[in-house]
Amino acid sequence: MTQDEMKRNAARAAVAYIEPQTIVGVGTGSTVNHFIDALAEIKDQIAGAVSSSEQSTARLKALGIPVLDLNSISGFGVYVDGADEINAAKQMIKGGGAALTREKIVAAVAKTFICIVDSTKQVEVLGKFPLPVEVIPMASSYVSRELAKLGGKPVVREGVVTDNGNLIIDVHGLHISEPLALEQQINNIVGVVTNGIFAARAADLVLVGSAEGTQVLR
Ligand code: 5RP
Repeated sequence: MTQDEMKRNAARAAVAYIEPQTIVGVGTGSTVNHFIDALAEIKDQIAGAVSSSEQSTARLKALGIPVLDLNSISGFGVYVDGADEINAAKQMIKGGGAALTREKIVAAVAKTFICIVDSTKQVEVLGKFPLPVEVIPMASSYVSRELAKLGGKPVVREGVVTDNGNLIIDVHGLHISEPLALEQQINNIVGVVTNGIFAARAADLVLVGSAEGTQVLR
């Protein structure tokens, strides 16, 4: 089974957690693209979607799923999104697709965060995947120097501007033994919009696609 097939299995399993006539939160990435395709099959049974990126919005709309403005609703139930890494505490590194800030906002509003991953994303300690940090462009040199003090190697992602008009710095070589503390520490650097550690808002449920089937981690 290919990695993409494992992603697809996890994504399709998430549809079972969507309550009829509710608003669905939709993340970003190749795993989520499979989820959007599956969601389109039940589009008449949902109230619409809130989206975490222009990319997902375009795919949702192309498949006839109404996309609602997050500011027009007071809350919703299930948010489904992928991850670049996830540990046993359901804390994640996200932002490989540069959508981390909007993902964190939509996840904050959701009652339940369902993370869909293939088994290659499971790790003991976060940090092998370079940690994405969204920064205000004029602060990128300053933020890079501050990030280097934390022991990582910051690299500005070439040719990428986020949906919010900002830059992404990928921090290589971190060994994130205390995700919650590091998430807060990096967010306190002036010029950082947010970083890709999802520890303050970890997942509630993880669906792991593998060659053996889809495992549910509660
Ligand atoms: C985008 C993300 C994605 O969820 C993460 O990069 C995983 O992507 P994929 O499903 O393509 O492996 O955080 O910002």
